[in-house]
Amino acid sequence: MTVLVTGATGMFGSGVVESLDRAGADVLAMTRSESSAEKMTRGHVTGVVGDLDDPESLPALMERADRMFLVSPMHPELGRREIAAVEAAAAAGIDQVVKLYGAVRHEGDQLDIQHQASIEALASSGVPWALVSPQTVMETNLLSQVEGIREEQSMYGSAGEGHIGMVALGDCVDAAAIVLQDDPAKWMGANLEITGPEALTYAQVAAEMGRALEQTITYVDMPEKEFAAMLIEYGFPAEDLELQVLCHFRQMRNGKADLVTDTFQRLAGRPATSVYEWTLAHRDAFASD
Ligand SMILES: NC(=O)c1ccc[n+]([C@@H]2O[C@H](COP(=O)([O-])OP(=O)(O)OC[C@H]3O[C@@H](n4cnc5c(N)ncnc54)[C@H](OP(=O)(O)O)[C@@H]3O)[C@@H](O)[C@H]2O)c1
Repeated sequence: MTVLVTGATGMFGSGVVESLDRAGADVLAMTRSESSAEKMTRGHVTGVVGDLDDPESLPALMERADRMFLVSPMHPELGRREIAAVEAAAAAGIDQVVKLYGAVRHEGDQLDIQHQASIEALASSGVPWALVSPQTVMETNLLSQVEGIREEQSMYGSAGEGHIGMVALGDCVDAAAIVLQDDPAKWMGANLEITGPEALTYAQVAAEMGRALEQTITYVDMPEKEFAAMLIEYGFPAEDLELQVLCHFRQMRNGKADLVTDTFQRLAGRPATSVYEWTLAHRDAFASD
């Protein structure tokens, strides 16, 4: 069985490639860059060049694949890009598409409009499909806090008192790899929401990280406008701020990221990773020089 993984150099895609490779599945790891394709080729993994903005690059790849893991960046063109992949998968008669969605309830915001367009295309494609939907992930939320924690034992955000079922990336990619190797009929149309083991406020996350790193870490909550201005001052591209950062913190603050499920435990047969365990495993990243 061969799985085509889009976004294979990105956060989720690279993790799914690794997890499938470990499990012995053949993988076509898609990137837009020849040199990245060469670098990724090893073991069960073959790097291939494809571009969701160039639908003509897709049919030849789909012909070589039995299944597809579909992920694309948080971008205003996410819907159009993913629909191109779904149409190519349907034309090639692929056995299953597993699309990365999300468990934060974005409910009609710009990011969700893009995802819904992709999901509608999947649902009407005739291809067996499932959604793997991570809660907001620890890697995105916490590795972006490395500098503040190292230099002043502080974390910054605008999540207020919202409870968050933050999940480890490793659990999400392992869940996706399990579904991609299972009987597609078992998961037809399922939305598998993958979360951490508990919902914590950002202040509680800071306390758990502090417990793991044996230091006191303070969470500094900021009004959204001030937080946005700080990120821009630190060089975050203004045009990416809404879709990549602000809409997520807004939903966390509004309590829309509080979902906790046992889906990972049921799929993988082990408990989901806690913030404390994740921080211990990433201790070196937070150590001051
Ligand atoms: N972060 C979270 O907490 C979280 C939680 C739940 C869901 N999500 C979802 O995760 C998704 C983003 O995943 P990610 O963070 O893994 O993405 P990412 O790292 O930002 O990007 C994935 C890859 O997509 C490729 N890419 C860019 N433009 C492309 C195009 N036109 N055609 C084909 N490939 C293209 C790039 O690879 P090349 O340059 O090598 O081509 C990039 O490495 C979104 O759907 C988001 O809603 C995120």
